[in-house]
Amino acid sequence: MTNIASSTLEIPEARRVPRHVAIIMDGNGRWAKQRYLPRVAGHQRGMEAVRNVVRACGERGVEYLTLFAFSSENWRRPAEEVSFLMQLFVMALEQEVGKLHENGVRFKVIGDLSRFEPKLTRLIREAEALTAYNHRLTLSIAANYGGRWDVLQAVNRMLGEHPELAAGFNERDLAPYLALNYAPEPDLFIRTGGEQRISNFVLWQLAYTELYFTDTLWPDFDAAALDRAIISYQQRERRFGRTSEQLPADAGLATLRVENLSDAD
Ligand code: IPE
Ligand code: IPE
Ligand code: MG
Repeated sequence: MTNIASSTLEIPEARRVPRHVAIIMDGNGRWAKQRYLPRVAGHQRGMEAVRNVVRACGERGVEYLTLFAFSSENWRRPAEEVSFLMQLFVMALEQEVGKLHENGVRFKVIGDLSRFEPKLTRLIREAEALTAYNHRLTLSIAANYGGRWDVLQAVNRMLGEHPELAAGFNERDLAPYLALNYAPEPDLFIRTGGEQRISNFVLWQLAYTELYFTDTLWPDFDAAALDRAIISYQQRERRFGRTSEQLPADAGLATLRVENLSDAD
């Protein structure tokens, strides 16, 4: 499997522009409530923020963008809201996939698809197949995704194929079965909407990810807000267990001026 480098088994390369950004897009409901609109209006505006952030990530040289769209616990919401979110997903697939493909975006969905309507599952599979060979940006949408579900499905599939591993297995045995097996571990995690929690998003791969929390509500998150997160990331010292003194002289993520971000690679 390409790209698998475990932060606990080897020291990953730290680049100035995060290679993989993972975002919990939170705050749609509150955005709508502030405007006396129904919650679903916030989800609709949230779609526009997705478009902007996908474009901005491509321009800045981010290679992998993973967006939490629907958690395995979001089924607990009112039935009408769940059904609206599913319709929005279908509409987004129908309307956006062509544009994503033209822009060289590889589209992936991670999560337990078994609970979705057949039409939605078909659209997801078609979008993944159409864009499979694009490599400008890999956009992964986490839908009916849970970090615990992911680890458990990985262990179960691994043991199904390799029953002998029941006696003991290691990270390298498990890695190919995780839903994000095609992506390096996230460098930068962003959560909008003010809450400071992981809410069962990617748990395994966040081991050494830099965490960034902002009060900005998801529908208001734009390219400038993304740049603020990237600048915060660039000021971190990623030690991966070592001391500061042990880091190579060029390991610091020297801050880039915002104007230069779009030229960075
Ligand atoms: C995030 O916004 C979108 C989903 C979870 C689908 P919310 O709907 O959680 O918005 P808040 O947190 O209620 O404001
Ligand atoms: C996390 O947001 C899930 C998504 C953004 C899809 P939630 O709004 O569901 O998280 P909690 O319930 O506040 O932790
Ligand atoms: Mg929320």
